This record gives sequence, C-alpha cells and structure tokens, in this order.
Amino acid sequence: MGLSIGIDVGGTKIAAGVVDDEGAIIARAHRDTPADSVDATAAAICAAAAELIGEHEIEAVGIGAAGFVSSDRSTVLFAPNLAWRDEPLGARVAAELKIPVVVENDANAAAWGEFAYGAAKHVEHMVCVTVGTGIGGGVVSESRLLRGAHGVAAELGHMRVVPGGHRCGCGARGCWEQYASGRALVREGRAQAESGSPAAAQLLSVCGITDPADLTGPMITAAATNGDPLAVELLEDLGRWLGEGLASIATLWDPSVVVIGGGVSAAEDLILTSAQIAFEKNLPARSNRPHPTFGIALLGNDAGLIGAADLARIK
Ligand code: BGC
Ligand code: NA
Ligand code: ZN
Repeated sequence: MGLSIGIDVGGTKIAAGVVDDEGAIIARAHRDTPADSVDATAAAICAAAAELIGEHEIEAVGIGAAGFVSSDRSTVLFAPNLAWRDEPLGARVAAELKIPVVVENDANAAAWGEFAYGAAKHVEHMVCVTVGTGIGGGVVSESRLLRGAHGVAAELGHMRVVPGGHRCGCGARGCWEQYASGRALVREGRAQAESGSPAAAQLLSVCGITDPADLTGPMITAAATNGDPLAVELLEDLGRWLGEGLASIATLWDPSVVVIGGGVSAAEDLILTSAQIAFEKNLPARSNRPHPTFGIALLGNDAGLIGAADLARIK
C-alpha cells in the first residue's frame, strides 16, 4: 500500500496530511502560511512534510498551490492572490525532502479528490469550482484531469463575465472571481455597509462592528445564517453570479456533476440554492438538453489535500 503526502497551501494555513490509497487521511500536520514571503512559505511546507515523513513511509508529495502551475507540475508561474512568480516550488521542496514532489493547481487537486473519492466519485465528466478568496476550477473529462497545453487550463475564476468590470489580481478586468468569490462578497458587503441604509446599519450591528472596513466574509455568512436580510441578499447575489458562470462552463464541457467546494461552505444552502436557480435559467437550450446535478464537496476542505496526494502517486 502506497502512502503519499498531500499539502494544501492556503492564504493563511498550510495543511498537510498522509493519505492512503483509499483516500483516507491517517496523519496531519499544520503550519501558518508566512505572509508575503515565498522563501518562508517553502520552508513551512517542508517543515510540515518533514514532520510526517519522520513517522511514515512516504513515496511522494503532492502540493496544491493557488496559482497557474507549469505543465511539468513543478513551477508556480503566477498566483493572482499570492506572492508566487515563476516560483520553482517543486524543485525546492524535492531538494530539501529528497522525495519526488508534484505541484498541482489547488482547484485541480480538489476536483481530482472529489472525482477519486468524493461527491463525483468516478463520474467521467465532472467540474469542480472552489469558492474562497478567489475562484478555482478543475475539470475532469473522460476521467482525465484537463491540464491544457501548458498546464494552466481550467483557470475558471478568470473567465470574463463583465466586459470592463472590476480589475482582477490576474491583471484583466471583469473576471468571474471578482463577482462570485469570498473577496467579492466582502467588497460588496462593505460597499453596502457604507451606504448607511437601515439594512446596512442592522447588518453592522448584528456583526457587532461600527466600521464597514471591519466587515469580514465569515461575519456575513454568520449573519446570513441567522437570517439578516442584507447578508442573505449578499450571499444570494454571490450564488447567482456563481450559477450564471456555471451555465457557461456547462456549455463548454457538459459535465454530469458540478461540485462546489471551498471556504464559503458555512452558507452552503443559501449559495447552492440561488446558484442552481440562476444556472437553470441561464443554461443555453435549457429545455432541450440534459442538465447536470449539483453537489457540495464531500471531502470539504480536505479535497485539495487528498487530491494532491493522489495525483502525486499517479505516474
Ligand atoms: C487562481 C487559481 C486558483 C484559485 C483558487 C485563482 O485566483 O488563479 O489558480 O485555483 O484562485 O485558489
Ligand atoms: Na484549475
Ligand atoms: Zn482574473
């Protein structure tokens, strides 16, 4: 039985785990993600992995990174929301750990985890979107992970949904992740809060803050779960953007299952319901074609870790 390590590198936390060939995590290690330092990030990744390698017989390490990853699965070419630029992450970590290392886009890894062991288990045609700081995408077509010519296919968060819209961390304007991500939720929430309307005043008071700048995504989700009307509206808007984008994505790949994952999951039902309604309304030829089913990531926040570990094992 082969054991591998999967590492999910998030904006605030690095989560590592030893994964067996049934997709089960049998040990874990964590580190904080060092702010703005690629060197310290590589060191923290190595430290988390080393802790696990000391205790288990490991054949490979898979790293899920939130950016554009080269086709040889080793260099992070660019990360819209992190400091990586042409970062030879795989080579650095492999040199330190003396073990084969595979770097994969975080959302590709999550899609693969959900395909191999999760909500779309062995579903030959599936799409996964992760909604967090940004929007990540992964596409499995004919049971294969779609990587494109240069490794950077399925960057679904950067599909343009609004010509001339908000500027994105990738340099373009109007990207989907500027409208349907956690960061977009906070931007809209703060803008509403600044309007000073009674609904906005109520939201701020429910969140226990007075300055709109202090509003966070988790505050909005918590307020929505408790029925605050403005918070509910903000999440429904996010769901609508999500569903409309997914209608375009289904137009491209015709998946039978669409899996939604990522950090916004506390408000799952609200987002999922409004995403599904918008999707059904906007799917081209909607009355004359089969529709995919929607699901929430079964592996939750572990999807990327488990998927990266599994991809590292596949030669
Ligand atoms: C990046 C993707 C990543 C996604 C989720 C996007 O901004 O371009 O590479 O998968 O965020 O982390
Ligand atoms: Na991707
Ligand atoms: Zn973009």
